[in-house]
Amino acid sequence: MMSKFEDIEYADLPTQPQPDIGTVLVAGATGYIGGRLLPALVMRGYRVRAMVRAGSLSPGSLSSEVEVVVADALDAEQVYEALEGVHTAYYLIHSMLYGLDKFENVDIQAAINFRRAAEARGVKRIIYLGGLGDIRTSLPSHLCSRRQVGNQFSESSVPTTILRAAIIIGSGSASYEMINHLVRRLPILLTPKWIKTRCQPIAIRDVLKYLIGVLEHPETIGRTFDIGGDDVLTYREILATHSALLGRKQLLIRSPAVPIGFYSYIASLLTPVPASISRCLMDSMTHDVVCQERDIVKLIPFRRLAYKEALVLAISRVEQDAVRTRWSDNYPPDHELAIKLHELESDPNYRSSHSLVSRKSPAALFRSVIKIGGREGWFHSNALWRIRGAFDRMLLGVGTARGRRSESTLRRNDVIDFWRVETIEENSLLLLRAEMRLPGLAWLEFRIDPAGEGENRLTVTAYYQSRGLWGRIYWYIFMPFHQFIFQDLIMEIEKRSC
Ligand SMILES: NC(=O)c1ccc[n+]([C@@H]2O[C@H](COP(=O)([O-])OP(=O)(O)OC[C@H]3O[C@@H](n4cnc5c(N)ncnc54)[C@H](OP(=O)(O)O)[C@@H]3O)[C@@H](O)[C@H]2O)c1
Repeated sequence: MMSKFEDIEYADLPTQPQPDIGTVLVAGATGYIGGRLLPALVMRGYRVRAMVRAGSLSPGSLSSEVEVVVADALDAEQVYEALEGVHTAYYLIHSMLYGLDKFENVDIQAAINFRRAAEARGVKRIIYLGGLGDIRTSLPSHLCSRRQVGNQFSESSVPTTILRAAIIIGSGSASYEMINHLVRRLPILLTPKWIKTRCQPIAIRDVLKYLIGVLEHPETIGRTFDIGGDDVLTYREILATHSALLGRKQLLIRSPAVPIGFYSYIASLLTPVPASISRCLMDSMTHDVVCQERDIVKLIPFRRLAYKEALVLAISRVEQDAVRTRWSDNYPPDHELAIKLHELESDPNYRSSHSLVSRKSPAALFRSVIKIGGREGWFHSNALWRIRGAFDRMLLGVGTARGRRSESTLRRNDVIDFWRVETIEENSLLLLRAEMRLPGLAWLEFRIDPAGEGENRLTVTAYYQSRGLWGRIYWYIFMPFHQFIFQDLIMEIEKRSC
């Protein structure tokens, strides 16, 4: 269940909750920002509706006080249905995971559908969070598409408030994780010339305060505001602050001109953030992203966190294993990696099963199963899993560096290294879907079944649907490894269960 925010987080927000306005819809409710905004709105007494795509939401992951409506923003009819009776709609939809070449059109079409549906439904307000960037310069496509989405809403007959933010600092955000890994892993960093561009980061906590503050402040209706913390920093300063805080020494050396694609490729090898996202983020880093105006500071005054404070909070959240939402939480359901095992037209053409019988209880076995991956590793043959991950990274796959959102809890759609949780059933089943580069589709299933007389059977099954000749060859190359990797894995899971 989603944890409720502590009151203290919003104690200095000067606006008052207005729970009587009616339904507040959050589009992009499963995202990094949306996932944190929902409980904050609930806590302030609002009637909240979460708009999610089919298959995106883990059952039980939202508070029972949140109404859920299933709609894809690319389907105009579904959006129209979702907006029935809505007073205010937050628009937090974004599709960076598709990569640069696809997300622009998708993002703009989604915004057009949303705007039209909001107008037809008589929605009273739209609140949109977009990206910061100097509107006088030509922006990289990532920021440009954010601006075009903003234009859709500001031209709408529905009064709109637009907030524009640069890097958002918080545990689990893609930019934080990229910087964090680069600082932790590289004592020497070859830097591009845009290391000197300036940026005005803002803490996720302050973004949420502004998102709620504008809802509760009528003077913000129909206006655009730049939101940022008080520190304006170059990326060099951002890296230096981060390494100083972690007590690491990092030498930054200016490199000769190298295309941005090269840096994003290297970042995707060294950090958990895949190339499609790191490319979008780095593209935005080539331009100053600094607030052009600060009107919001007077309208909604509170003490904003300094960059260093935001960083300390993010690091401590990770250390306390209390990350609420993470950039890797979801893949778009229509992404090729989102095909579920039960959605295959026929059974996968290869499978390999290994099992053992144990006197340990299903609960004990399951507690052990759900700890696999992440910092804990794969219990056995870790080096082989890591080699497979490194190989995947070289092929621009996700590799194993994504780790886990939480080391102790697991929910549907969570990432475990290069897997994603497809199904999780307490004490009986964990089905993982492969997101590494493969000539086919693969799943790994852990199942616990009663085996009679106080005994339980723990089974691991690898399913594989090959693609083409290379796909079949791949299966036969790896088959001999399965024999001992999987058998040893379940033996180790059983040994560690208590
Ligand atoms: N995070 C940052 O650092 C940052 C910085 C500045 C500005 N912003 C802005 O803040 C907003 C939210 O960003 P975020 O980081 O929360 O994004 P995010 O984590 O990538 O989440 C995007 C959300 O959009 C949903 N979505 C994508 N395509 C959809 C579609 N066709 N129909 C319905 N829902 C769809 C996703 O749902 P699924 O679960 O179904 O995929 C997900 O809930 C964006 O406008 C972004 O530009 C973010």
